[in-house]
Amino acid sequence: MTQVITNDVKKLRLDFLNVRNTTSDIFQPISMEDAVMQSDPFGSTPNWHIAHVTWFFQKILEKYRQDIDANSINTDYLNSYYQRYSKILPKSDRGKFPRPKVSDTLKYRTQIEEMFLKFLDNIEENNSMTRSLAYDIELANQHEMQHQELLVYDLQHYFQKFEDPLDNYEPKLMKTTNVDGIHDIEEGMVRIPGGLYELGFSGNDFCYDNEIPEHKTYLNTYDIDKYPVTNKEFLEFVESGGYQDYKLWLSDGWDLVKEKQWDAPLYWQEIDGDWYKKDFRGLNRISPNEPVVNVSYYEADAYSKWVGKRLPTEAEWEKAASWNEDLKKKTLYPWGDGFPSDLNSNLLESWKWAPSPIGSYPQGKSHYGCHQMLGDVWEWTASEYVLYPGFRSKFSEYTDKWAINQKVLRGGSYATPRSQIRNSYRNYFKPHERIPFSGFRCVRDLL
Ligand SMILES: [Fe+2]
Repeated sequence: MTQVITNDVKKLRLDFLNVRNTTSDIFQPISMEDAVMQSDPFGSTPNWHIAHVTWFFQKILEKYRQDIDANSINTDYLNSYYQRYSKILPKSDRGKFPRPKVSDTLKYRTQIEEMFLKFLDNIEENNSMTRSLAYDIELANQHEMQHQELLVYDLQHYFQKFEDPLDNYEPKLMKTTNVDGIHDIEEGMVRIPGGLYELGFSGNDFCYDNEIPEHKTYLNTYDIDKYPVTNKEFLEFVESGGYQDYKLWLSDGWDLVKEKQWDAPLYWQEIDGDWYKKDFRGLNRISPNEPVVNVSYYEADAYSKWVGKRLPTEAEWEKAASWNEDLKKKTLYPWGDGFPSDLNSNLLESWKWAPSPIGSYPQGKSHYGCHQMLGDVWEWTASEYVLYPGFRSKFSEYTDKWAINQKVLRGGSYATPRSQIRNSYRNYFKPHERIPFSGFRCVRDLL
């Protein structure tokens, strides 16, 4: 028992150091001018992200009655939405009143980091780890990972506004080739047999409280796309007038199409009759074989209707990703239980900064034969984000109070850290959001 607990501290310390280093690596190429800008109320300034995640570690230290000696900063600016902690600076004000100063943030990060490492040392020395303490520390690590991804969304949104293709974020690390090449994947769908399915996380390691308890749900037999909808496929919808046909749209979505004059995914721009997009690779023609990204739930739903299909429920998505029919068990990832690598998925640490073409990860396919379910693009599901029956909050105001008016997305994106994602991970966004790296795949009912 003691051995397991000691190992936990060592792993948590390693995870802590890794997550802090990765955040620094992402932040480092950003100039002072860009670090304090907020280009959309959806996002935050890069400086705010890296200060706020540090504040979250401070809150864990305070919860366990550690003395905080970081008076260099006014933490009132850093509370995102927790009613129980001090004041809340409205999200839309984060760029208008850019405090703390970047130099203070960096100092604050170092101070809290040192205190947190000392805190972990004490836990190890005193053998005082408990399950709830381990959850809180892991949660703080995971929280910072979530902000790494949000920061990448914000960098994409901000830098694409500059017309000069060279005026862009320059990542410290960028890998443009696929380790395993690109393989031909036959088009089509895979049949998933219906029956009772146990939805949710079933392992022993960390998961968020909203992934449990595992519970039975009944599924009819269905067909699911082998791979996410591609730019080429979505372009056909665009060119056939999909954005002009009210019959395809949910009412709220149609209102948005008219109000915002949507005619293509976010960031697409038409130049001389061709579609282009500026992303971290610069300004390029839309790549036909990559999964479509930056579409709202409404666009995903309208496309699905247009092709005579529908969006999967989260249980349908999860079964297609997890269930091994031969072994009669679920796995943590589509390919099995082994940690993500360059060979099976495109996640943050692949450092590709873009979705990969379909066929890039044959080794990452699910037991049923679905490709690229983890990484590349989050996939919208038809499911409302509700807490599972029997839910118990492990950290109030984190996952629980958001369970209203949002849709579940599964699978992670090219900006999701590897240590964060698994088949049972539930992300959620409002259906109109297009800034997240969201795409989708469709299902079809048997007639
Ligand atoms: Fe946060």
